Amino acid sequence: MSIQRILVADDEESIRWVLSKALKKQGFKVDLAEDGKQALSMLRSTHYDLAVLDIKMPGLQGLELLQKLQEESPQTLVVIMTAESTMENAVAAMKLGAYDYLTKPFDLDALDAIILKAQKAAEVSDQIGQLKEELQDQYRFGRTIIGNSHPMQEVYKTLGRIAPSDVTVLITGESGTGKELIARAIHFNSPRLGKPFLAINCAAIPRDLLESELFGHEKGAFTGATDRKPGKFEQANGGTLFLDEIGDMPLELQAKLLRVLQEKEITRTGGSQTMQIDVRIVAATNQNLVEQVEGKQFREDLYYRLNVLPIDLPPLRERKEDIPSLVEFFLQRAQQDLGVSTIECSTEALSQLKRHNWPGNIRELENVIKRAALLSPNHVLMPSDFPGLLSGQSKEGQDESLEALVARKLENSLAQMDLQELDNLYEMVLHQVERPLINIILQKTRGNQVRTAEILGINRNTLRKKITTLEIDVKRGD
Ligand SMILES: Nc1ncnc2c1ncn2[C@@H]1O[C@H](COP(=O)(O)OP(=O)(O)OP(=O)(O)O)[C@@H](O)[C@H]1O
Ligand SMILES: [Mg+2]
Repeated sequence: MSIQRILVADDEESIRWVLSKALKKQGFKVDLAEDGKQALSMLRSTHYDLAVLDIKMPGLQGLELLQKLQEESPQTLVVIMTAESTMENAVAAMKLGAYDYLTKPFDLDALDAIILKAQKAAEVSDQIGQLKEELQDQYRFGRTIIGNSHPMQEVYKTLGRIAPSDVTVLITGESGTGKELIARAIHFNSPRLGKPFLAINCAAIPRDLLESELFGHEKGAFTGATDRKPGKFEQANGGTLFLDEIGDMPLELQAKLLRVLQEKEITRTGGSQTMQIDVRIVAATNQNLVEQVEGKQFREDLYYRLNVLPIDLPPLRERKEDIPSLVEFFLQRAQQDLGVSTIECSTEALSQLKRHNWPGNIRELENVIKRAALLSPNHVLMPSDFPGLLSGQSKEGQDESLEALVARKLENSLAQMDLQELDNLYEMVLHQVERPLINIILQKTRGNQVRTAEILGINRNTLRKKITTLEIDVKRGD
């Protein structure tokens, strides 16, 4: 918050006039009130960053107003104006929480100085607030989530909305995109944070064991069950159970899981007693569950039960702008955990990393950085520290150049057209390239035309004209 809107309340017209003129000249939005009552109703209906109040006004006096403001709108800083004869009042004002006071007659420099001081204080308190939030986030998330790209911000928004509730969450995303990290973040941002977070990987545990791992078993329930054993559901009671690779859960168990979700009770294998449990389920998969439902490998009813609130994590190749901060983060971690002395990544190496397609996503990036930091003799990582990075990139056909792709498309399309009929083929084709290009960059900059023009390397006016002629719909980001 910085100071933008100021209320001046004084019953003397000349004072209102002088102050309003001086403050407006400095770019503040200024409103005026003639007495305490009017000031109060204005302060109630509009947010003011600063209020300059005369101590003596008919009706409601400055000090009473200050007291009310402290209760109702403590963010508003108050400066009290007082005549010399009422110095005690100034002291009282400060005690009541006024930010500062001015003695009349005052020169405008004194007011400027106060505003400047308030402005600085507001900035510092903003910074402190931000730092606090960051610290708290780090603490609550357990581990830091890096990335400020647009798709990640969308993820954070959903996270913030759903974490506090008990709703079941399904996290989807390719391997290594951070599904487990997000699952933990959900738990550590929920009221369950003091209770256990348990994870079970449905793909890694043999199907025969999975059932007893989840639901527990009684003594003698099957050969080898020499003791009774509580399952993960029981152990996680009150907390969160993370069912990783849920797509690999055998169908029989899916039915059992569905019952648990519906009835909130479990029965140990070989047991007859049911137990009430209160566990929040977060599930994850890198498979396409819709396809699995179609192929009857995944129960449709369970899918709908789990998919109440999906979070789809973007692959790294769709948020390459996050690469530099991720690299920095993993390098720091390598220094702490492995004691390596590599401290940064050269710009050349960074561009090389940005060219890679990252099929293994963040985990692949993490490993690549760790390995390079361990093996490199340099303090600064160079492209030569990432040998073989680009070789793993091309999957057949996927990396066909744009030019080759366009040529192929064009040949096909033109073969079906009557070329004699066309009079503006050149423009028509160019538009089809221009429109998506401009659209994509506009989306990336969230509708910022100045940035878009910069990135495209064209003039702002040119961009504006193109937007009109190409009938591009500009949506401003939030
Ligand atoms: N946004 C991020 N910021 C920092 N580290 C991240 C981020 N996303 C993932 N990681 C790290 O990358 C690694 C892989 O993440 P995680 O295990 O959560 O991925 P996953 O989607 O569960 O992968 P898989 O499908 O292979 O199980 C972890 O070490 C995790 O800490
Ligand atoms: Mg995982």
